[in-house]
Amino acid sequence: MCGISGIVSSENIAKDLFASIRNLEYRGYDSCGLAVLKDGQIQIRKNTGTVEEVNAKEQLTRLKGNVGIAHTRWATHGGVTKANSHPHFSGDEAFAIVHNGIFSNYQDLREALAKQGVQFRSMTDSEVFAHLVEQAYEENRDVEQAFLQALHRVEGAFAIALISKHMPDTLFCAKQDSPLILGIGDGKNFIGSDINAFLAYTKQAVTLDDGEYAAIRRTSYYIKKVGTGKPVKKKMLIIDWDVETTKKGGYSHYMLKEIFDQPNTAKQALQIALSEIKQLVHMINKSKICYLMGVGTTYYVALVGQYYFAQFADRYIATGSSDEFQEAAVVTKDDLVVAISQSGETYDTKMGLGFAQSHNAKTAGIVNVMGSTISMMVDHVIMQGSGPEICVVSTKAAFSQMIILMRVAIEIALLKEKITKDAYEEYYAALNDFPEIIERVLNEQSGFVRNLAVETSHIPNWIFLGCGVYYPIAMESALKMKEVTYLHAEGMPGGFLKHGTLAMIDEKLYSLFFIPLPEQEELHKRTLVAIEEIKARGGTVLGFAFQNDEKAEKLLDYIIQLPKVHPLVAPLLELIVAQLLSYYTALDLGRNIDKPRNLAKSVTVA
Ligand code: F6R
Repeated sequence: MCGISGIVSSENIAKDLFASIRNLEYRGYDSCGLAVLKDGQIQIRKNTGTVEEVNAKEQLTRLKGNVGIAHTRWATHGGVTKANSHPHFSGDEAFAIVHNGIFSNYQDLREALAKQGVQFRSMTDSEVFAHLVEQAYEENRDVEQAFLQALHRVEGAFAIALISKHMPDTLFCAKQDSPLILGIGDGKNFIGSDINAFLAYTKQAVTLDDGEYAAIRRTSYYIKKVGTGKPVKKKMLIIDWDVETTKKGGYSHYMLKEIFDQPNTAKQALQIALSEIKQLVHMINKSKICYLMGVGTTYYVALVGQYYFAQFADRYIATGSSDEFQEAAVVTKDDLVVAISQSGETYDTKMGLGFAQSHNAKTAGIVNVMGSTISMMVDHVIMQGSGPEICVVSTKAAFSQMIILMRVAIEIALLKEKITKDAYEEYYAALNDFPEIIERVLNEQSGFVRNLAVETSHIPNWIFLGCGVYYPIAMESALKMKEVTYLHAEGMPGGFLKHGTLAMIDEKLYSLFFIPLPEQEELHKRTLVAIEEIKARGGTVLGFAFQNDEKAEKLLDYIIQLPKVHPLVAPLLELIVAQLLSYYTALDLGRNIDKPRNLAKSVTVA
């Protein structure tokens, strides 16, 4: 995730441009830069570090000019270096661009450009765009057409902005699956990855939709379709009247924003102090029975935790759905009940905790909302720090809870000498690498997943299957599908199928499999057996499969390909892409995604 911004004005803009990326810094902060046009020349200043550090090194605010673009980076392609920071020049320095997202076909484009003699200054995917524009401009001598031609050649999820010395009064920008908003000011206009980029200067905003581009001048702007060139009329959004939209940061729904927030959510979960984690570890180790309790999504989080504790820490943990806890659990003063709750206000979970406390059991919580009832009720609380989750369906908060439970499991494993220090470090390395992988996969896969969703959204009945820890992941993913699409999706373990559900299989019932890494041999084998059972009965099978899984590839009707990752995080990567599939299916069906019918964010009633 990166932040981009731009301003077209009659005054010096460097200070305002700098302020705009400071306000977007939560989107990425490993490097930043500004490109400003003055007297027909573009000047770029950029470097590594936070925006304040870069300003100290490069004197960004001292640049002079009245049209410019800016960027704050969270590196994906190419390391954190000055050369890889944005903005990027074209070879002749007549164009400068900033880019957020990933051009998934950049390698092919880069190779083709290199063969034609183009010299690259950076290792980024972004730079190709500047060269493509330059090449197109050489042919047609029209900046807008050159911008469009370049847009037609790139694939992936992106927001892009361009300035050119050949058209010094205009800024061009476009978006596809990455946020970008226009800010309409008085005698100056703005663009930004979200409203924070220009909220200090104007409350009037215009959203850009996927497949649209805009030309921005000081006192005017227009928006057109990239595909047809047709002008698009947009309603002006007055921010004061629709504060909700501003917080979506350019995404069409909170759900999508929160799905894309997850690289940051993972980082936040990894930043929780080890002492907080260890305190829970201590309580678990002291307890006779430890229960993980939640309801709906958080019950599935508890199940994921159960598998991680068993596999990594050799510790059996009981799980309970909060609404059934009082009937199913037997709790004594020697036990521990860990409540998992995003809101910290869920009635059933509060009741389950109350029940535990009435039996003098110890209690703990993993909670997102500070000051919430559950966070105050328990003996020890781990605050997730995932930030507000506004969409009614839980994505990033649940994901964070799973990472926290992994950390607890790994800690117990080390303490009990179930794993070596080397293995512990390997797990942490896998977790630390995970945010960048999620970012890349989300950007690379969103187009494919959206097309798949459009192709399959007419299917009313689904089963989601997985073996081992992929089973609760399948359950949670099926719940997500139900909630946002209103379609029927049932989750179950792969091995369960032949004990009844096979009777339902025909070509009209679609199955989605959460396939483990091939090296998770036993689980992988069991999952493939279940797929074959469905295929043999004429069912249609979709599946997540990791790279080089030829056996799975042969069996699947539709394959969602994922890069090879560490087994610790593999199920969570599938979970995240499954969230995207539910989102795009709901989008295609025209559902009320952020507020699905009949649901509420925090269920505070019995
Ligand atoms: C599903 C969902 C719900 C909640 C459940 C518990 O997407 O959001 O199933 O997980 O209502 O809510 P919290 O976590 O607030 O206790």
